[in-house]
Amino acid sequence: MKKFTICLFSASLLLLMACHRPASDNKIDLSVPWKFHSGDDPAWIAASFDDSKWELINPTDIWEHQGYKNLDGFAWYRIRVAIPKRLINDAFIKDSLQIRLGRIDDYDQVFLNDELIGENGKTIPQKTEARPDFFKGQSQWDTERRYILAANDPRIHWDQENVIAVRAYDQGGAGGMFSKPFEISMADLPDHIKFDFNQSGFKFDGDTLISKQFAISNISLKEDFRGKLTIKAIRCDNGNQLFREETLLDMAPNISTVFTVNIKKDLSVPAIIYFTFRENASGKEVRESLEMPYILTPKPCKSPRINGAKVFGIRPWSPFLYKVAATGQPPLTYSAESLPEGLHLRAGDGLITGYISKKGEYKVRLKVTNSFGAAERDFTIKCGDLISLTPPMGWNSWNVWGLSVSDKKVRQAGEAFISSGLINHGWTYINIDDGWEDTHDKNGNIIPNSKFPDMKTMCTYIHSLGLKVGIYSSPGPKTCGGYEGSYNFEEKDARNYADWGIDYLKYDWCSYGGIAPNPNENQLKAPYREMRKYIRKVNRDIHFSLCQYGMGDVWTWGNEVDGNSWRTTGDIEDSWESLSGIGFTQSKCSPFSAPGRWNDPDMLVVGWVGWGPKLHYTRLTPNEQYTHVTLWSLLAAPLLIGCDLTQLDAFTLSLLTNDEVLAINQDPLGKQAKKVSKNDEYQIWVRDLEDGSKAVGLFNLTENQLPVNVNLDDLLMKGKWMMRDVWPQTDLGLVQTHFEMSVPPHGTRLLVFRKP
Ligand code: GAL
Repeated sequence: MKKFTICLFSASLLLLMACHRPASDNKIDLSVPWKFHSGDDPAWIAASFDDSKWELINPTDIWEHQGYKNLDGFAWYRIRVAIPKRLINDAFIKDSLQIRLGRIDDYDQVFLNDELIGENGKTIPQKTEARPDFFKGQSQWDTERRYILAANDPRIHWDQENVIAVRAYDQGGAGGMFSKPFEISMADLPDHIKFDFNQSGFKFDGDTLISKQFAISNISLKEDFRGKLTIKAIRCDNGNQLFREETLLDMAPNISTVFTVNIKKDLSVPAIIYFTFRENASGKEVRESLEMPYILTPKPCKSPRINGAKVFGIRPWSPFLYKVAATGQPPLTYSAESLPEGLHLRAGDGLITGYISKKGEYKVRLKVTNSFGAAERDFTIKCGDLISLTPPMGWNSWNVWGLSVSDKKVRQAGEAFISSGLINHGWTYINIDDGWEDTHDKNGNIIPNSKFPDMKTMCTYIHSLGLKVGIYSSPGPKTCGGYEGSYNFEEKDARNYADWGIDYLKYDWCSYGGIAPNPNENQLKAPYREMRKYIRKVNRDIHFSLCQYGMGDVWTWGNEVDGNSWRTTGDIEDSWESLSGIGFTQSKCSPFSAPGRWNDPDMLVVGWVGWGPKLHYTRLTPNEQYTHVTLWSLLAAPLLIGCDLTQLDAFTLSLLTNDEVLAINQDPLGKQAKKVSKNDEYQIWVRDLEDGSKAVGLFNLTENQLPVNVNLDDLLMKGKWMMRDVWPQTDLGLVQTHFEMSVPPHGTRLLVFRKP
């Protein structure tokens, strides 16, 4: 028997060696097919469990792409793998083994040889019972799954077969393992020495000096590392060195050191800071680089300029609230010709309020003056059935505060719209996401929790600033954050919202999955139809925002249930993977976008974010943030800022106040851009604009500066065009057949072409 077992073991070890690429670079590749089974059974933890009849699956892609289209909830992955001792022998630092499992959407528990070793990206350091509720709380879909075990951890079977069993739970939308790397290796110097750039933002001083705080940590619990840290900053345009500093570091285990670098640079110039830590004993290096923010948006002129939506939809007798957005040296004086009867404009701040009783299209001429001049613009009011004729622009609490949102934070966001000047660029909505609800009282009224002592007074306050208010609920009994939903209280909730003065409702599927577990298209529509019935009955216009992560291709029927916008994807996070994975796959939705009916690829992740209460500065590079705002503008997406507005820095503000970029987002034609050209390195998207011009986005998917050659034929553009560089707002001259343009890493160039 024993002999048999040994033979069996060596055979399976040989087999393993054949199906795994041999450990190269001291790594074992786990991006090979794993065994897969949907459902949940504790028996599947056991190394001895026979999974030979299970299906095979590629771990680097979500299960929906591999034949499991409607799978939500539990599924298991298993793999058998030999872990050779030579990994230790060949390693410079011999104390820990790391198992890297890409990312897992949304939650996971990982077992090695029958024992729990990790949960949702956190290593379980010693033998522990598996928690049954590991899949509660905020989704962990974008957390790196890196589990680190001490080399002498008895759960590792060195030079033997090991079984890794992963229990995954998907709460909806995309599910399961995805991304990279999938591998086993010893934790090396870069796994112990970590830079953290996101606990503080860049600080701006006037137009030149930028300072940045960062931390370098030794996260090893045993090893002491000594070496030299070199920091240098290089301009991207001419390669000149802006800054260089060297420091000797002696880093004891589990120690973090904070540095501040002060780098003088013209704010419009792209530059990169390079960090190198060279360890004395091994000569090994850990390198990181950090893009510095660069500002392309010109400062507003002193003379007036009118911004914001050129067309506005309202239903008869609904309260009208529109703030004429304008920049220019204060004080500005506002006026309007041909305002329909029932509307009034406040000369001091351009706030238009009142009611329109009659359906119709009203052409208004807006005028703003100051001591430097005057600006005029046409403004069309369409009083009829359709609202949100341009994508909503505003703020939402989720990406910053998560469930810790409060009355105070909402008021502060509204106030920051005024003090930062965002309101002068068309930013309007202040939206409360999940976390405000308590319960329904005995009369069926929804009662806010103690963080929102008086919702009506708060809404009146936000309105008094010239802004609108949004709220959040779920058609299910509970919201995604576990708060009270609207199930069976839809009519009462809609009335309560209207009574408070709500202008926007985000209605999030969440626990409705328990009521319609495997919904067909009708069942997907049903809860939205139901709520729509009641919000249409109240005496104010409420933007109806469907949130169900794109299920059943919602973009093909969102308008049928009277949605004004619908989320086309799962939740966004502040990583390139998340941003590009969402943004560049929106072409399929393009034909379905129209005025009042917008595809919503989720909110902006710029500035200080964190899903609350602890915040960090966005992990997107400045170029990625340019890509984010550019692409969302081309996609005619709702623009909902998801950051702490009380900590807006000059760069973030510049991203959100470029009126030519925002004008593309707000273009009245309401056509979403289409992807016209793509390869592994770049994509080109084109959006038709109302005046016959075209907005074109070039996007570089690589990590290097890239020359992109564009043939106008490929953009279906004939003849001569005037080309404008939108971010810096400069003309680039005439183009005919083709042009070439250099695009920064993960960055963009946004162009508008007009007929000469
Ligand atoms: C998610 C939704 C997020 C946020 C969250 C609140 O389902 O996609 O945007 O609203 O729920 O719990």
